Amino acid sequence: MTQTQGSLARQITDYAHRADPYPIYAELRKTPVVHDEEGPYIVSTYWEIHGLLHDPRLSSEARNLDPEAAPELAEEDDPELPPSFLRLDPPEHDRLRRLAMAPFGPPHTPRRLHAMRGELTRIVGELIDGFEGRDRIDLVDHFSYPFPVTVICRLLGVPREDEPRFHVWAETLAASLDPDPDADAAERRRITRQARTELAMYLSELMEERRRAPRDDMLSDLVNGQGPEGRMSRVELLSTATLLLVAGHETTVNLITNGMLTLLRNPDVLARLRKAPHLVVPLVEELLRFDPPVQMLPQRTPLSEIDIAGVTIPKGASVWLLLASGNRDPQRFLDPDRFDPQRRDNQHLGFGSGIHSCFGAPLARLEAQIALTELARRLDRPRLLEDPPTYRRNAVLRGPRHLPIALEGLRPKASPNGSSNGSNGSR
Ligand code: HEM
Repeated sequence: MTQTQGSLARQITDYAHRADPYPIYAELRKTPVVHDEEGPYIVSTYWEIHGLLHDPRLSSEARNLDPEAAPELAEEDDPELPPSFLRLDPPEHDRLRRLAMAPFGPPHTPRRLHAMRGELTRIVGELIDGFEGRDRIDLVDHFSYPFPVTVICRLLGVPREDEPRFHVWAETLAASLDPDPDADAAERRRITRQARTELAMYLSELMEERRRAPRDDMLSDLVNGQGPEGRMSRVELLSTATLLLVAGHETTVNLITNGMLTLLRNPDVLARLRKAPHLVVPLVEELLRFDPPVQMLPQRTPLSEIDIAGVTIPKGASVWLLLASGNRDPQRFLDPDRFDPQRRDNQHLGFGSGIHSCFGAPLARLEAQIALTELARRLDRPRLLEDPPTYRRNAVLRGPRHLPIALEGLRPKASPNGSSNGSNGSR
């Protein structure tokens, strides 16, 4: 490439490329690992990203990052609220992840997600019923955002009606993942810290309530659970609950919105999905490859020098792993720029890989599968009103801020035995 590498980091985060960052990634892949003296090491090819995600020398801890290398991503130690396990290395990462997993999935709680399927379908049905009588909707505001927020609230036991309070904190924390080279690093740290503290104070009250009067939710189980490894300390509980609440609603919104955008750009696939709902399983995997909600992981750093693809990455350097670029690597995927909802060989990086691979993946998959199946089934002749749509600023958690869609009406809901009932708007 002719640009300096510093300008590459800037190009990746530049809002002008948000709607279609893929041509930049294609250029970057010509050099799997690129460095600029001032900037991060940018890794853009599948096998290099995969290798680094499985390399114990690559740390996720901010305190191992040389503050000079990435001032906007460096974090100050906060004894009141230590980092969540997303930003910890083993052995602490592994212990906290196991403790958080106990009330969420197998082997301790194999039924929690399964038991939620009916409720997820009901929430989706109600949100779509809300489109009745409208000829245009904003998919983000009316569907893709409220759905996962309602679900993560139910799962954790956070009152849904408090959403206006925690929405702002969650957005600030999501924005802090974005390595904006033009940001005022000190101001960003101040705002992030304040949002974390306020969210933690809010969750702390809730956890106290659940300690006194447990309910059937994850917060109650986390606070009161007592497994062979003990339980989390109070501050560990706060960091974990904060992580789950933010991760649970700033990511799935983009999977559903990116998914519907891709389906509306490929009406033949949308029509196929309407007739054959089982196609949704490989389709969601292909969406996670083709247009992933987490585009990159910009918060890694080597604990010691790492030689990779002819480059030596020094200890403490800032490393960006471009998951979305790895997903389009022709060395790994056949015809990678083609959206192929029946792709067989699809070990995408949409949920990361290795020890930090997405904890919430089973939930995110289920949410997206139910949401897209029902949208395909019930929206009558939907079409995009803006293409490309307006994107959020965030380059890491990437997705449209709005997705205006026109529709002719609603098809009826499926009855519990799978057949259609009612006749409103059917054709
Ligand atoms: C489509 C939706 C989602 C996507 C694309 C996604 C993506 C990811 C990715 C790429 C990572 C790896 C981060 C890293 O290696 O540093 C991750 C980790 C994580 N995700 Fe998700 N996520 C999604 C939904 C969720 C949901 C719904 C939850 C919560 C219920 C969740 C909880 C987590 C947690 C706790 C981690 C940290 C895991 C660890 O450090 O061991 N995610 N996610």
